[in-house]
Amino acid sequence: MINSRKYYITTPIYYVNAEPHIGTAYTTIAGDVMARYKRLCGYETFYLTGTDEHGQKILRSALSAGLEPKELADRVVTKYKEVWEELNIKYTRFIRTTEEKHKKAVQFLFRKIDHNGDIYKGKYSGWYCTACERYITLKESPDKKCPVCQRQTEFFEEENYFFKLSKYQDKMLSYLREHKDFIEPSSRYNEIFARVKMGLEDVSVSRASFDWGITMPIDEKHVIWVWFDALTNYLSGIGYPDETDNFKKFWPANVHLIAKDILWFHSVIWPCMLMSAGLEPPCKIFAHGWWTMNADKISKSKGNVVYPRDVIDKFGVDGLRYFLLREIPFGLDGDFSFTALKNRYNNELGNELGNLVMRTVVMVEKYSNSTVPQYNPSEVDKTIMETLRSTQKSICDHMEHFRFSLALENIWEIIRMSNKYIDNVKPWLLAKEKLSHLNTVLYTLTETLRIISIYLMPFMPASMETMRKQLGVSDENISITEGLEFGQIKPGTRVSKGNPLFPRVEDK
Ligand code: MSP
Repeated sequence: MINSRKYYITTPIYYVNAEPHIGTAYTTIAGDVMARYKRLCGYETFYLTGTDEHGQKILRSALSAGLEPKELADRVVTKYKEVWEELNIKYTRFIRTTEEKHKKAVQFLFRKIDHNGDIYKGKYSGWYCTACERYITLKESPDKKCPVCQRQTEFFEEENYFFKLSKYQDKMLSYLREHKDFIEPSSRYNEIFARVKMGLEDVSVSRASFDWGITMPIDEKHVIWVWFDALTNYLSGIGYPDETDNFKKFWPANVHLIAKDILWFHSVIWPCMLMSAGLEPPCKIFAHGWWTMNADKISKSKGNVVYPRDVIDKFGVDGLRYFLLREIPFGLDGDFSFTALKNRYNNELGNELGNLVMRTVVMVEKYSNSTVPQYNPSEVDKTIMETLRSTQKSICDHMEHFRFSLALENIWEIIRMSNKYIDNVKPWLLAKEKLSHLNTVLYTLTETLRIISIYLMPFMPASMETMRKQLGVSDENISITEGLEFGQIKPGTRVSKGNPLFPRVEDK
């Protein structure tokens, strides 16, 4: 039984061979926006992120840096935590796969699957991409290059333990048939469905040629394959295998947020592991696209990385958070460009939102003694009321389906409409002749901004705090289910002009 008032959302756990960059920040910011949104909707929310610290890839990175793998992990984890804090990521728990509790959970899950008869010993002989920690078949890649990262793979032959993935083909297909929204966007669902239909092959889940990993409980000479280890974080992060309150409350996860590169592991291997262990699969896997640079995926190894610091020194944390979710529809790829960033920042945040706030507060100061005036409900502009009503509905609908850019577009419709409203009604003329109408105009503008601040809160929490201080509503208890009726801001509320929310950026 799924508790409908809880929300459990996760990011991938990131490899500790690289510091956080724009790509990893993207998923983590998106998860944070969703978690914050759900909290505002009254859901008890658990937001899990963390780091993936075992396996050959990390071992090699550590060796080449002259460090023990755990030392490397400790350093990079510190960096992750610092950057997430700076980006205002409000996670519930940061999990590391080197934690004892996690190791126990992985071994426990492994035993469960073994007891169910789904582990057997065999010989692996084939190709492996260490960068992606994945086995490659010649069927998927006759040139032996990794189909995901295009690197040359390595041949190895080893005695391994296998998980009977093939046994779950029919179950997996029926699961997909019955849960058409299990994988989103739907194009990804279709891809996976077609691939599962073609057949599932058993997968090796142990390695014996190095020991940087979790010891296999049934054979100490092996460590558990790093993907088996990593995927289990979604359980161990909420207390598995103990039947803790968190585990009972939050499993199954509402959504695993990932990028398309790791969809197979999440949408096929993981649910089959869970089915074997008698646990429910997650409710949804959402696979977003890649940030690219000249059409190449942004990644450390490609040497085309943009770090959050490169952006936030100039555009602020909220400039980055806004841009990443506004610029490309969640699910598609997109090229990162400082020109596009600057344009959106200056035009949408600076000119449209920032100026609307400044104009409104300045007018309330000038024409209404710095306090929100009384208004006359019969004089409230009908188009504004109608747009507020209709966009609010679709903003929530877009948010529920991870259509962040469309939700923001809707919010900007309200912002643009409000700026036009000022230009049309010309409050400076009303001040001379029609004071009662002027009061209603000022009230409408401050109230509309209050509503906007709530919808934008998950995207730009710090700027919205500041904006709400300027509007005099920072102590308001906000909630998306209850706070959005027009007419909530109290006449008499004191506004105060502050610094521009998004100061103009002149060059790159
Ligand atoms: N450790 C595995 C995940 C295990 S989850 C059980 C892994 N780690 S990773 O460090 O390579 O992170 C991959 C994830 O980082 C992607 O799925 C995506 O969420 C994010 N991104 C990394 N580069 C990215 C882009 N250039 N663009 C968008 N997202 C990116 O895979």
